Amino acid sequence: MDTIHIRGGNRLNGSIQISGAKNAALPLLTAALLTGEPLRLGNVPRLTDIRTLTKLLGVLGTVITRASDDHADTLTLTTPEILSTTAPYEIVSQIRASFWVLGPLLTRCHYARVSLPGGCAIGARPVDLYIKGLQKMGAEIDLVDGYVVANAPGGLKGAVIRSPMVSVGATHTLMMAATLADGETVLENAAREPEVTDLAHCLVAMGAKITGIGTSTLRIEGVEKLHGATYNVIADRIEAGTYAIAAAMTGGDVTLEGVEGETFEAALSVLRAAGAEVETPQGSVRVMRNGARLQATDVVTQVFPGFPTDLQAQFMALMTMAEGESEITETIFENRFMHVQELARFGADISLHGDKALVRGVEVLKGAPVMASDLRASAALIIAALAAEGETIINRVYHLDRGFERIEAKLSACGAEIWREKA
Ligand code: UD1
Repeated sequence: MDTIHIRGGNRLNGSIQISGAKNAALPLLTAALLTGEPLRLGNVPRLTDIRTLTKLLGVLGTVITRASDDHADTLTLTTPEILSTTAPYEIVSQIRASFWVLGPLLTRCHYARVSLPGGCAIGARPVDLYIKGLQKMGAEIDLVDGYVVANAPGGLKGAVIRSPMVSVGATHTLMMAATLADGETVLENAAREPEVTDLAHCLVAMGAKITGIGTSTLRIEGVEKLHGATYNVIADRIEAGTYAIAAAMTGGDVTLEGVEGETFEAALSVLRAAGAEVETPQGSVRVMRNGARLQATDVVTQVFPGFPTDLQAQFMALMTMAEGESEITETIFENRFMHVQELARFGADISLHGDKALVRGVEVLKGAPVMASDLRASAALIIAALAAEGETIINRVYHLDRGFERIEAKLSACGAEIWREKA
């Protein structure tokens, strides 16, 4: 297996082009199942999660062509007909977002059989909200041999669905299902994450009737058919937030190109509180820290527009070197602290108390061999390693390749000493 090596201590200086958002590209790809006409998606990042989902779409009947430039891929996805209504375990177990094909398959074919999902092991991650929502729209759902088997003879019907908690994936799935349902669907307490808004805008470009976009109440009036469209994936706010934290960690000066600060304002304001300077001109974000030690800052993860859970591990890495004690509370996933024991290998002082981590800042981190446990946790290890004395070796880097495009190249261009050793 490949390893990533980092010799820490260099400040990051320069600019980084932010890639298209993995978490926006994934639902946008599944939207290709909703129409027989071509959906052309630009700014698609080159990541293993994207490749895994396109493999699944191929099995279901989507024909995909790819054009590449220096920064991204443009994928044209055409699904003249659905060839299979089964999303098999072998693929869905690798990536949770592939479960989202349930919505488009069911609304287009009135039947779907989708394996229960996998993905990062950061909590129990049930699918009850998806199932209850689709049942409200008239689907009959059974669990058979680890598969969700959904039937909607005569098609899905519009319904008012109030979710007891905010779920990004359930909102994606139910919104897509509602586009071709009979009548109006109202999704109350819907997710407002920028990736949900991106999917809604793309669906509208495909002919869907959706109002309330960007709010927690989405109204979707079903239409007979959707058509093709051309759409560009938004920039990855989590990738941008990760590099912003890396810049603050190393005391550098980095401009993140192609991303709007408003998509991760909560993270930027916490960085300001911790002692970084942040500028947000249109279309880029500049993060600097000059000399002064980082200050301990508390953080509570929340749904958008709050501080994202997907930056919690990276922010914890930053706080390991801050002055004072910071309390980090994880409210979204119950088991998202697997990076704690790996950060301890660098000499970080962190104790866990239920959903809270108490981080006591230390003056020096020391490089160490560490293990990536999940996607965002691997980014936290990179951040710690960039500031640590000596060399760090990160194992299980396939987690990183799922969600961070060309991370070594982007960081080395800013002065980091980072390289990959192939197994
Ligand atoms: C998506 C993101 C992930 C991010 C998360 C929260 C993608 C590919 N993944 O994951 O990076 O961390 O949003 O912003 O976009 N839940 C239930 N029942 C359900 C569905 C969810 O209890 O049926 C719970 C989950 O266990 C979790 C919480 O709701 O505790 C939020 O999960 P959700 O928003 O659904 O996350 P994902 O869509 O899986």
